[in-house]
Amino acid sequence: MKPVKVGLLGLGTVGTGVVRIVEGHQEDLSSQVGSPISIERIAVKDREKYRNIHVDQNKLTEDPWEVIRDPEIDVIVEVMGGIEQTKSYILEALERGKHIVTANKDLMALHGAEILAKAQEKQCDVFYEASVAGGIPIIRTLIEGFSSDRIMKIMGIVNGTTNFILTKMSQEGASYEDVLAEAQQLGYAEADPTSDVEGWTPRARWLFSERLASEPM
Ligand SMILES: NC(=O)c1ccc[n+]([C@@H]2O[C@H](COP(=O)([O-])OP(=O)(O)OC[C@H]3O[C@@H](n4cnc5c(N)ncnc54)[C@H](OP(=O)(O)O)[C@@H]3O)[C@@H](O)[C@H]2O)c1
Repeated sequence: MKPVKVGLLGLGTVGTGVVRIVEGHQEDLSSQVGSPISIERIAVKDREKYRNIHVDQNKLTEDPWEVIRDPEIDVIVEVMGGIEQTKSYILEALERGKHIVTANKDLMALHGAEILAKAQEKQCDVFYEASVAGGIPIIRTLIEGFSSDRIMKIMGIVNGTTNFILTKMSQEGASYEDVLAEAQQLGYAEADPTSDVEGWTPRARWLFSERLASEPM
């Protein structure tokens, strides 16, 4: 059976998890998808960097365009972060008929509408569940499960990092500084955590959802 060929952009906290899941759950995933899933190329910033996961060194490239332009790749999984340059990779991948999975909250908050419009034009899928609410399956629930409802308001802690920090502070009495450092060490919070802890990520997402509500696709 022809495998679904994946090009991965990024092999950090999230990318390493993607490789582990795709490789470790291959049998389950293959039976659900109907074909094996194969990670063919991986773009990283530094090929020589030590990684706590074994990957075939020949799959690594420091040039994301090599992954985007590879005609063999069916699906791009973008877990490298960044906004403008990353947007150009995603738009070009869609132009070439590749489906996209992204965990990039900043990108989707700022350019989600343009990316989704391009995907619709090219009849490709863009899945961004991992970019919202720490991966709780909420986007699909809203789109499919509540498609005929009018949602007036959504309230909650919609940011996984903030949820982690607030839970630790309220249940264990930990200090904000200690929990933030722990979240950074675990890879939940980024080195510069401003967009998470200052509320920018949920706010940007709220602006994005407002735009989606006023311009339904
Ligand atoms: N961490 C989380 O818990 C979490 C949760 C939800 C969503 N996200 C989102 O997921 C994305 C990735 O987050 P992360 O925590 O996995 O980041 P990360 O650990 O910093 O990993 C980023 C990866 O992308 C690579 N990279 C960065 N810039 C590149 C470039 N210009 N060219 C090629 N490769 C490049 C890096 O290469 P090197 O390894 O060589 O440095 C690294 O492998 C972000 O958009 C983030 O907002 C993260």
